[in-house]
Amino acid sequence: MSSQPIGIFDSGIGGTSIFKEIHALLPHENCIYLADSKYAPYGNKSHKEIVELSIKNTEHLIDRGCKIIVVACNTATTNAIDYLRRNYNIPFIGIEPAIKPAALNTQTKAIGILATKGTLSSQLFHKTTDLYANGIKVVEQVGEGIVPLIEAGEVDSEAMRYLLEAYLEPMLAQNIDFLVLGCTHYPYLIPMLSKMLPKHIKIIDSGRAVAHQTKAILASQSLLNSSIAIPEIQLFSNSDLTVLSSILDNKFKVTYLEF
Ligand code: DGL
Repeated sequence: MSSQPIGIFDSGIGGTSIFKEIHALLPHENCIYLADSKYAPYGNKSHKEIVELSIKNTEHLIDRGCKIIVVACNTATTNAIDYLRRNYNIPFIGIEPAIKPAALNTQTKAIGILATKGTLSSQLFHKTTDLYANGIKVVEQVGEGIVPLIEAGEVDSEAMRYLLEAYLEPMLAQNIDFLVLGCTHYPYLIPMLSKMLPKHIKIIDSGRAVAHQTKAILASQSLLNSSIAIPEIQLFSNSDLTVLSSILDNKFKVTYLEF
């Protein structure tokens, strides 16, 4: 069982920001990554649609023998992880906007959250905000249009700069000192965001924390791979393969798959 793969899925290529952290921390683990780009973006879909897509991806990963599933998508986690945990007998790791560290450390008492509509409107997001951000101004911003640009390979374009300028402006006006990246596509924007943001604003991305949590859960269930052979890394997309491959610097083979 321990040599079975870690299953990872996202609405598209963004969850590779999590896959990279997992592969760096757990270099002997076999991994299967599903990029559901054909159905991206998830962020504007209904709660029901997001749950259905998450079920489809989960069942596919279970059919391929995965020992744990990482929901490498804030939108899918905040809408579907409760359902998945209730209905499938396999551990799930999720990712949601890291409000807690931002709220605990802010000096200006104002933090910005950039995420999809699906994440910001979810019950889980509201529950976490109520729990940790008492007395803190939480400036929420839907990153409309960002995911489709990244899926089209435009991480660094003028169109992206234009969108980010518009989304950062209201946050800067509220004097935020933390920007929480609430979507796994957004870490690819850190180089551009770092140039655009005043130096005192810290960017929070929880990819590494997700990798550590994955390791902790595998260890607690004696599921860490005991083999030190070169792992099998399988990346599948149901859409364009070149964008998925190039976001990973063409270091891994990617395969087209209907799912
Ligand atoms: N990577 C997904 C997330 O973390 C993107 C959502 C979307 O497809 O809109 O939320």
